[in-house]
Amino acid sequence: MTTRISKAVIPAAGLGTRFLPATKAMPKEMLPVVDKPAIQYVVEEAVAAGLDDVLMITGRNKNALENHFDRVTELEATLQAKGDAEKLAKVMHSTSLAQMHYVRQGDPRGLGHAVLRAKMHVGHEPFAVLLGDDLIDARDVLLSRMIEEAESRTATVIALLEVEPEAAHLYGIATVEETGTDDVVRVTGLVEKPPTGSAPSNFAVIGRYVLQPEIFEVLEQTPPGKGDEIQLTDALQTLARTGQAGGVYGVVFRGRRYDTGDRLDYIKATVRLAAERDDLGPAFTAWIKEYAAGL
Ligand code: UTP
Repeated sequence: MTTRISKAVIPAAGLGTRFLPATKAMPKEMLPVVDKPAIQYVVEEAVAAGLDDVLMITGRNKNALENHFDRVTELEATLQAKGDAEKLAKVMHSTSLAQMHYVRQGDPRGLGHAVLRAKMHVGHEPFAVLLGDDLIDARDVLLSRMIEEAESRTATVIALLEVEPEAAHLYGIATVEETGTDDVVRVTGLVEKPPTGSAPSNFAVIGRYVLQPEIFEVLEQTPPGKGDEIQLTDALQTLARTGQAGGVYGVVFRGRRYDTGDRLDYIKATVRLAAERDDLGPAFTAWIKEYAAGL
């Protein structure tokens, strides 16, 4: 019998060194994309896919993350007194989104190590992992499609994006076979950040996973890999190679995705989302055209 997936795990304990000094005293997941922290987009995505039990894996500087999803009574009272219902709704929205839980990672020893911290909370159920710095455009479907496949196949499902060969060394890369379903492939192997020119395909792993609970035992047996970190990709490679716990499938994503942990991609995300907003879009687009014409 398949168990309905209801829990989301959001690792947000990385050091964010590519974004220093902004991330010296603040997690990169709190960087705003237009006027909302990246992490709120991610929690909203989990909730939209039906996952309202959210466990966040936090590290140093965790307070900003917890505070963002908590009540701020002083601010609420001030806005209430002013009768500013619109701003009050913005403040309250993140508080009532989901049932939020937090666990500390301690030392950031890699994404696999962060996911392992979720073992007690998740128990023996399949669950989703959403990376806190990876944004999927809310207008494009990914997570619910992955959940559908994981539930019907009782298997692990990862998200794959086709990237240019020159960019393959920045990602985990999958070796795949067709399944007969257009957007689904079977994953037979995975390699974390292969050296340039050695990638087995151009299917890159992006920050959405639907995992079976067996992943925890596999992670416990996974030694540190690339960068001396416990890599989730290495544990997934074990499942893909052995076919354990139903094996690994990939949903090929053809929508819009932004890696807000990377400075250039972060700026692009801000520009795109601002340009497409009803309130800011017209004025911002007019300015950016004028600016680009002068470059
Ligand atoms: P990244 O590799 O992008 O995060 O991890 P990082 O290490 O913070 O980045 P840089 O290279 O130093 O800038 C992807 C996701 O996994 C989380 C991060 O917070 C991010 O959401 N992560 C990574 C953890 O929670 N714990 C870790 O030990 C590593």
